[in-house]
Amino acid sequence: MTHPSGSFSFDLVIFGATGDLSLRKLVPALYHRDVAGQLNDDVRLFAVARGEMPDEEFRSLARGALDRHLDAKDFSEAAVERFVSRFRYLSLDAETPADYAALAKALNGGTERVLVFYLAMAPRFFGPICTQLAAAGLNRPQARVVLEKPIGHDLASARAVNGAVAAAFSEDRVFRIDHYLGKETVQNLMALRFANALFEPVWHRGVIDHVQVTVAEKIGVEGRAGYYDHAGALRDMVQNHLLQLLCLVAMEPPNAFAADAVRDEKLKVLEALRPLTDGTIGEKTVRGQYAAGAVDGGAVPGYGEEIGRDDSTTETFVVVKAEVETWRWAGVPFYLRTGKRLPVRRSEIVVQFRPVPHLIFPAAARDVVPNRLVIRLQPDEGISLHMMSKVPGPGGMRLRTAPLNLSFAETFQGRQPDAYERLLMDVVRGNPMLFMRSDEVDAAWRWIEPILAGWQSQSDRPKPYTAGSWGPSAAIGLIERDGRTWHEDMR
Ligand code: BG6
Repeated sequence: MTHPSGSFSFDLVIFGATGDLSLRKLVPALYHRDVAGQLNDDVRLFAVARGEMPDEEFRSLARGALDRHLDAKDFSEAAVERFVSRFRYLSLDAETPADYAALAKALNGGTERVLVFYLAMAPRFFGPICTQLAAAGLNRPQARVVLEKPIGHDLASARAVNGAVAAAFSEDRVFRIDHYLGKETVQNLMALRFANALFEPVWHRGVIDHVQVTVAEKIGVEGRAGYYDHAGALRDMVQNHLLQLLCLVAMEPPNAFAADAVRDEKLKVLEALRPLTDGTIGEKTVRGQYAAGAVDGGAVPGYGEEIGRDDSTTETFVVVKAEVETWRWAGVPFYLRTGKRLPVRRSEIVVQFRPVPHLIFPAAARDVVPNRLVIRLQPDEGISLHMMSKVPGPGGMRLRTAPLNLSFAETFQGRQPDAYERLLMDVVRGNPMLFMRSDEVDAAWRWIEPILAGWQSQSDRPKPYTAGSWGPSAAIGLIERDGRTWHEDMR
């Protein structure tokens, strides 16, 4: 079976292949693309990690991961066997040159083939690995490197990482993953805005009151305490995923659906974000940390207990009021909100329109609510436009808000591919549109860093919130002080 958008021959090397990201996301994504017919028979997959293990042991790890993470209906014994047999395992220490020589030997020949190095590792390894790949002659013209977020820990470390990588791989061969950009519903934001004539004429401060971007999770830190406690929600989610969503909502129409045209427009948005200062951080941000509570009726421990230390000041919840200083958006706040251990898992963008300029209806019908466009990124992917309608029947002109609903599951049947499937194949194709360019990463850190610094200089800690609630009450206060409310479905 060949996939309609083509099938490919390539070599892929996964560094950190035995880690969580690799087994939970990359292996299943590659399996799906294999089953879809996009991987030619000669595709070679190399799993690389520190420990020693025979190929067969890694294959059985991959088999186990597929068993755990695939829907039962997608698991075919024969397809799984065929897929896992593509893997070879190599033990490699990131800083040992001889190990790269062994990798180069294993990759023998095929210098014309696309060669992808996927660094599913902590960012401190990105520079050293790229340096070693170059020293071993593996940064050949068809080679690409994929970096997982976070790129660095702050502006200086991000620049150091990008600099070290750039010394080995030119920018067009560096693919920085923000997996939100690979989600179908996030890609659909561009279709919504630029393939429909309806929205662009109203997409500005004259008609839009404000925008809410919420990424709510039910999960806690899930065994990633070592990473998460050093990162926190602002670095883990806002610096990348939420800012990218903001960019897609706020950017000017690019002149073409082309990688740099789109990324140039996103960069302009990031550069137009009003910097937060020590004087405004208290009023425009809220950070919280979950305390013990209940999610889905089950008791869950507080953050301190979960990570095994109770003096952590890491935030697991954050709200930031962002402002884009452009003619289009002046005075339109973008409220960014994300947190762990919230009552539901839901990511959505709410575009709140202004009230009608003049009400013609009698007093009884005056509960007219301004229009609201809700873009549901996950779950229940879809779009609803909340509009005022007449309530049918007698009783005069009674009005009520009702949604015009587009459900992706009902409209487009079939499986929604995971973000990593799309992103991995885009790397192979050499299409960087859905990846962050280094100047975007830089601009995002430039905006985030003063917030981190401001928080650090404050003596207060993140405000506690009960697991299973919508964060500290200050998060509600922040938006209500502006005379607005969080989208009520979220409560
Ligand atoms: C990752 C973060 O980038 O995104 C995690 O590191 C978070 O902390 C995850 O849980 C959320 O992704 P998704 O696709 O489940 O919304």
